[in-house]
Amino acid sequence: MEPYRIKAVEPLPMTTRAQRETALQRVHYNLFALRADEITIDLLTDSGTGALSAAQWAAGMAGDESYAGSRSFYRFQEVVRELTSYPHILPVHQGRAAERILFSTLLGPGGITLSNTHFDTTRANVELSGGQAVDLPCSQAQDLDSDEPFKGNIDLQRLKDALCGPDASRIAMVIMTLTNNGGGGQPVSMDNLARAAALCREHEVPLFLDAARFAENAWLVTRHEPAYQGVSPREVAEEAFRLADGCLMSAKKDGIVHIGGFLGLRDPALTERCRLLLVATEGFPTYGGLAGRDLDMIAQGLAEVTDPHYLRSRAEAARHLACLARNAGISILEPPGLHAIYLNAGRLLPHIAPHRFPGHALACQLYLEGGIRSVELGSLYLGKEDENGDPVTTAPFELLRLALPRRTYTLSHLNHVGEVLARTAKNRDKIPGYRLVRSSPVLRHFHSELEPLPL
Ligand code: F0G
Repeated sequence: MEPYRIKAVEPLPMTTRAQRETALQRVHYNLFALRADEITIDLLTDSGTGALSAAQWAAGMAGDESYAGSRSFYRFQEVVRELTSYPHILPVHQGRAAERILFSTLLGPGGITLSNTHFDTTRANVELSGGQAVDLPCSQAQDLDSDEPFKGNIDLQRLKDALCGPDASRIAMVIMTLTNNGGGGQPVSMDNLARAAALCREHEVPLFLDAARFAENAWLVTRHEPAYQGVSPREVAEEAFRLADGCLMSAKKDGIVHIGGFLGLRDPALTERCRLLLVATEGFPTYGGLAGRDLDMIAQGLAEVTDPHYLRSRAEAARHLACLARNAGISILEPPGLHAIYLNAGRLLPHIAPHRFPGHALACQLYLEGGIRSVELGSLYLGKEDENGDPVTTAPFELLRLALPRRTYTLSHLNHVGEVLARTAKNRDKIPGYRLVRSSPVLRHFHSELEPLPL
């Protein structure tokens, strides 16, 4: 059961199927363009969508909104330093601002970043800084069905080869994403992280954590890595931060806040350079684009997020939803992580070719059936077609992510999702593919317009 009770509630928008059909036509079958009040259960993202605790709201009331030297900053700094061990903490408005500041400081033209998998904004910021982002996921990540516990790991052999290879002098940093969101929310083991850190030290390349879901990673380590049985998630998290030279953090996930993030650094010279950019583009270093109250809410959220009762119930919610999907006959990316489950839409809808977007087709159907919003991670997101709509590249897998906002939906909401999944799977043959009618050259899944094809 959820280890909290409800003190403030927000009504769920209830719609009819006819209203949802009209809404979907109006937005040209792009779920990003729906109004939130047309959605009953919003599983688009776990980012910034969590519920604050009473203690976080109270901390917010104590926020100090001084432009410089605010008390909130010093409270925030102390909490983040204690968790991460990094002496220099730069607040930013969200994760991608930390990415932009770090990469524009450390990456010259042709600079390379290596990662278990870059999240899409991370890759975009590397490329905007003139760099090249290289993903080195472990081979186990290719098998969606196996229940290997640490499919988020980096491939250590390929990492070593890259660090010793002809382009070694261009490698500016290694980024370990915890958990590996682009790789299905799979965790990284402490063993893998420690070995990656040792390689980085040996080759004098800095190691950074993309720590957006550090607590969820730590929970899965305590469950599945034998050496960490009986160790608390907080201790695992502290050890992970200590292995790296710094971190990029979107506090919208495991800070359990609606907005915020930070950059944690060890190197004082690098900090000085990042601070210059921070002042010019985010704000004075004691607020970095946030209100004082946001800093206090993050500090409190970071104290709550490693609570084992909270993490256990989050893991159980994801497992429950995973069971409902399997019982409905829908394969998922195994094993389920904590922040989302990923449905294997390609397998469910074999009659829809990748360039007719099975993941997107399933997303539209879940919305029509039950007012649920989700996000495609398949060929609409990663693929490319020629002017006739014929495929040039398709995604390796056609997935649909159902993300779980923190502390927001109860198990009975998830049961509703399970019923909708069951109805949808039963009528899978009647789900049409889609055709792009308007697209944009970058991040097309946000802006594109589509139409259903005749069955
Ligand atoms: N890193 C990871 C691993 C992320 O998942 C995200 C955001 C970011 C960085 C960027 O952080 O949004 O605060 O700027 N992920 C969200 C998602 C958007 O839906 O998975 P941000």
